[in-house]
Amino acid sequence: MEVFRICGGPPLNGTVNISGSKNAALPQFAATLLSSHPSILENVPDLSDVRFMAEILSELGADVQRLDRTTWEINPANIGHRAPYELVRKMRASICLLGPLVGRLRMAEIPMPGGCVIGQRPIDLHIRALKCLGAKVVLEKGIVKVDGKDLKGGSIFLGGRHGSTVTGTTNAIMAAVLAPGTTKIESSACEPEIIDLCDMLIKMGAKIIGVGSHILKVEGVSKLSGCTHKVMPDRIEAATYAIAAAITEGEIILNNAKSEHLGSFINVMKESGVMIETLSPDQIKVGLNQNDLNSLEIITLPYPGFPTDLQAQTCALACKAKGISILTERVYPSRFMHVPELMRMGADIAMEGASSVVKGKGKLTGAPVMASDLRASAALILAGLAAEGETWVQRIYHLDRGYDAFEKKLQALGGVVERIPESKLPKSFSSY
Ligand code: EPZ
Repeated sequence: MEVFRICGGPPLNGTVNISGSKNAALPQFAATLLSSHPSILENVPDLSDVRFMAEILSELGADVQRLDRTTWEINPANIGHRAPYELVRKMRASICLLGPLVGRLRMAEIPMPGGCVIGQRPIDLHIRALKCLGAKVVLEKGIVKVDGKDLKGGSIFLGGRHGSTVTGTTNAIMAAVLAPGTTKIESSACEPEIIDLCDMLIKMGAKIIGVGSHILKVEGVSKLSGCTHKVMPDRIEAATYAIAAAITEGEIILNNAKSEHLGSFINVMKESGVMIETLSPDQIKVGLNQNDLNSLEIITLPYPGFPTDLQAQTCALACKAKGISILTERVYPSRFMHVPELMRMGADIAMEGASSVVKGKGKLTGAPVMASDLRASAALILAGLAAEGETWVQRIYHLDRGYDAFEKKLQALGGVVERIPESKLPKSFSSY
């Protein structure tokens, strides 16, 4: 395993190129299975989750070729309907294979994805969607088995106890595009990644209206063609670097970043005293309007609410703000694994139910800390960049799932970050 060694202090300055979006690319890999013709995906981020998804498509029988660092060609002429457990268990997002397999083959067998540290991760809404389209769904020995021979358009309500479901929406859409008749999806997620998927499906010949709203209408077609699609930029990566600028009191220009994807985040940052300037439709400049940041208050909600995927990173920033910040999770109420690790760095945080109450102290001190999930890893690195002294972030494989070349991009901005083998961890830490 590898660790990050970070020497905190220097402000980050310069320009960073934002990669393609992980959460757009993964369902789009799955969407290529809807056609028997090849598709090409461009601007794909270089991530372990993407490589896992490519491996799963190959296991299903697709011919998957990596044309260059960010371009993949998938030829799904001959595919089966059973996804391999040993790969699916490594990446729960593979659940978004359900929709395309049922749409194309009228059957699917996908191992039930495990939970993870951020929550139980149920799939009841995914199953509801498929049943509303006439599919029979059973769970046998941990495998979700779908019989979609009677698949037909229907009416689906996708609202759950925590609002809409992103990958549940991708499954509903991808099953409906090849289901005879009309499908209405209400309480659909409307994240930018859903819009990007619909754009790709429409290129393939799908008939979808209401894209970007909470009500989608799909007219089933008999087959879809392949396509070439450029994956949208990663809004969560962009916002993570925005926080990196603010927390180190530097100034960063984000290339390939769309402010239209970051509305609620930008509002919160501006209220806290972060300078965010849209230089062009694909470029954002981030710095500080004032030395001491004001306290922050956020409540995570489905889009266009504040993204849950930015909650941990914003908590790191709140540690530096003055006053008391409150961060409330309405999407994954237990998504607070970063809190005890930030407290090891001197943060003063109290948990109140699904809220973290942060007493900003203006400074953090470096320490050995443990990453637990993708966004918590990013939060600890951001804190390390701003802390006095050295921070060692362990289990960095969590980060590699969702951030493309993170240490290289930080180094180019002046960050003192290096990726080293765990064996190089100072002996005094090894008992940690
Ligand atoms: C997607 O996960 C993202 N992953 C997550 O990003 C993101 O945090 C999440 O959406 C919310 O925005 C991908 O797109 C690959 P949900 P997903 O279904 O689709 C509950 C990251 O860090 N729910 O929208 O799995 C669920 O428990 C990852 O990049 C049900 O109750 O999330 C949660 O509380 C982490 N029943 C809420 O809905 C269901 O059937 C939102 O989950 C499905 C979900």
